[in-house]
Amino acid sequence: MTSPTNGSTRRRFLSVVTVGAGAAIGGAVAVPAAGYTLASATEATSFRPVSLGPAARFTSESGFDPAPAPYVEDPAQPLVSSGLAYVHHTGRANRDWLAPDAMFVVFSNRCTHVGCPAQATGIGFGCPCHGSQFDQQGARIAGPAVRPLDRFQWEIRRDGNLWITNRWSVLIDGGKVRYFPVKAPGQPLEGQLPWATADILYPAVTYSSGPVPGAAS
Ligand code: FES
Repeated sequence: MTSPTNGSTRRRFLSVVTVGAGAAIGGAVAVPAAGYTLASATEATSFRPVSLGPAARFTSESGFDPAPAPYVEDPAQPLVSSGLAYVHHTGRANRDWLAPDAMFVVFSNRCTHVGCPAQATGIGFGCPCHGSQFDQQGARIAGPAVRPLDRFQWEIRRDGNLWITNRWSVLIDGGKVRYFPVKAPGQPLEGQLPWATADILYPAVTYSSGPVPGAAS
């Protein structure tokens, strides 16, 4: 028979384990978001180009089945610089990432609501946290997300690897993609607010590498 003391000790132990597990799960979700938030508080943050591995690894997609590609932007700070890109092979061959027939579209999996990891669903992307849904272009079609999924600028380098070299927030209008300096989750873009003050209320995370690209489809 279990003594009251043993029962109470076990309950306390289970309670500590449960709280600890909850904190660990919360931390796993919160750390990338924290990194993003910290980045937004800095003057400028350069996106460090990072290889996703051999480009050939991403060319066998059939239908819409983008390949998850984990990356660590800064090996010295893996907790705040790791992320997951989704590489969609369009079936085309152009290596210019902005070309209408670009061979890849590389999405960020960070949901633009509050930053949970969105997942490819076969018809687009879905976020398990609060139900945001995105189509195959990453445009929001349902849920509380405030804008499309961010995208990565990419290039195939001489080593044959697919590199992501910058990150952009986007608006998609009739298939045309407009690029903006990247914003944190929850922050709308200029053009989404009637009073056009999104940049004042929600200053972008300032990635300092290169000019904002023009519209592309
Ligand atoms: S974080 Fe994705 S819907 Fe809330």
